[in-house]
Amino acid sequence: MCGIVGILGREPVALALVEALRRLEYRGYDSAGVATIESGAIERVRAEGKLRNLAERLHNHPLQGHVGIGHTRWATHGKPTENNAHPHATAKVAVVHNGIIENFRELRDELRQRGHVFVTETDSETIAHLVTDNLNNGLSPQEAMAASLPRLHGAFALALIFAGHEDLMIGARRGAPLAIGHGQGEMFLGSDALALAPFTDTITYLEDGDWVVLTRAGATLHDGTNRVVARPVQKLLASSQIIDKGNFRHFMAKEIHEQPEVIGRTLAHYLDMAHERVRLPFELGFDVASLPRLTISACGTGYLAGLTGRYWFERFAGLAVDIDVASEFRYREAPMTPGGLMLVVSQSGETADTLAAMRYARTQRQHVMSVVNVPSSTIARESDIVALTLAGPEIGVASTKAFTCQLAVLACLAIAFGRARGLIDDERERQLVRELIAVPGLMAEAMTREPQAEQMAHMLSRARDVLYLGRGTNYPLALEGALKLKEISYIHAEGYAAGELKHGPIALIDETMPVIVIAPRDHVFEKTVSNMQEVAARGGRILLLTDAAGAKATGLDLKALIMPDMADEFTALVYAVPVQMLAYHTAVLMGKDADQPRNLAKSVTVE
Ligand code: F6R
Repeated sequence: MCGIVGILGREPVALALVEALRRLEYRGYDSAGVATIESGAIERVRAEGKLRNLAERLHNHPLQGHVGIGHTRWATHGKPTENNAHPHATAKVAVVHNGIIENFRELRDELRQRGHVFVTETDSETIAHLVTDNLNNGLSPQEAMAASLPRLHGAFALALIFAGHEDLMIGARRGAPLAIGHGQGEMFLGSDALALAPFTDTITYLEDGDWVVLTRAGATLHDGTNRVVARPVQKLLASSQIIDKGNFRHFMAKEIHEQPEVIGRTLAHYLDMAHERVRLPFELGFDVASLPRLTISACGTGYLAGLTGRYWFERFAGLAVDIDVASEFRYREAPMTPGGLMLVVSQSGETADTLAAMRYARTQRQHVMSVVNVPSSTIARESDIVALTLAGPEIGVASTKAFTCQLAVLACLAIAFGRARGLIDDERERQLVRELIAVPGLMAEAMTREPQAEQMAHMLSRARDVLYLGRGTNYPLALEGALKLKEISYIHAEGYAAGELKHGPIALIDETMPVIVIAPRDHVFEKTVSNMQEVAARGGRILLLTDAAGAKATGLDLKALIMPDMADEFTALVYAVPVQMLAYHTAVLMGKDADQPRNLAKSVTVE
């Protein structure tokens, strides 16, 4: 979603702001802008579309200020036009905003009555006028912020600069993340540590409700009650500083290919490989054996990882599992037995609905555990137990390596729970762990199937609709395949449990509709063959992802991508590779931007 950068620098900051914004491009945006203070006055340049448009404008109208804020906007209120782009400004203040101000209409009406004139369709402009109103009443910028923040309802991260103040920037966070970067005689603000990485490796994350006054000499942090507070100063990990595509054309391709390595790293964190045991790197703090129920909630791909995890928690640990998308779960008013476990899954750790689902669970006296990729995220910080996925920064908007790392962590947790609940003995644990240890190697082998996946993508790129079918843990993978294809190629795709075919979707089958069947030769394979026969009998064109034995056993004339042989339990991890490649190559063949699909944002911090 939107990205924020602020620099209190020693030289003109506009170009550095644009460079920092480039590192936030992966979050998705549709307009951008910067503002600086020059000779005491606010100057800004904004542009619709990509950052190169903004850079071009800045080339023609250079900004000279040494203090400035920049923003990439993902439109929520009002179209992605230059006029609606941030920073929003009055003569006294300029602001960039991530999130949504829910009471902006009331505030706007009130401010209009006091003579403020609004020129955009955005909720964010209200902030500039509200702060200006307080400045007009004789308050200092700090006092004006303290007076304005309690009046804003909703979720936000903000950065503001003030006319006549060349050594001042104020930031605030409620709901959406914001970090301070500490430099030598310079200070920075960023909605994401990645944006700050070129400037400094020393950062402080604002806690929810905090606001901060920055000068070149340092930062003064306040909590939501305006008390001055201290927050830890942390060193950025080197991994967060590296974001380049290497030899790949897109981040998505790079991230698909990184999977054997990052899955290996994640598994090494959760497994004692020498003794073939699961070794959780944290104390659970509750008795797994007496857990009444597990509830899983997440959004999008994270939800589909959770759906896969459900099979493992039920089978390995005999645990009753409830799972729902977070946007539904948070409003369902689901009764939860106290002492149960709420497990949320999130790459970014900032997804608004997932966070709300998790907070609801806490009111229901649940233990709260998260599977997250960003350790400093809000979800991680609000969890009792954080199970990290060590996927490294995921830049492509479509999740790939984060998804498979989520699967790896869920598999390890399910085995550990199974052991704690007495359903898994030593021998079974060793067998399952051996199967997991084999996964990175099998994924590397699956990478060699890229030419076949690319060939199949030619057929998909000509299709209007595509159906994905799977059973067991490959049913959520069918849903994930359809999600991946539609989000980056814009081809309509649906995923179904193969057994559901004849309950409706079979009506869609004809010779124009590719049907991708994910069916390793496992315990439900024969059932899926029956479904494939139903498709073939109606002229449907089947693309089968299976192993050599599976391809032979169908007896059907179809296109098959032959995967390495492997044991049953964790095929979803390895079959995710060709599923991702199919979507990626289809998008590339169609000339679509696989890394930044239209309308999508990487981190969805509004509901
Ligand atoms: C799809 C995708 C999204 C995210 C979803 C949740 O490729 O990436 O569906 O999975 O927006 O995001 P996180 O995992 O950050 O909570």
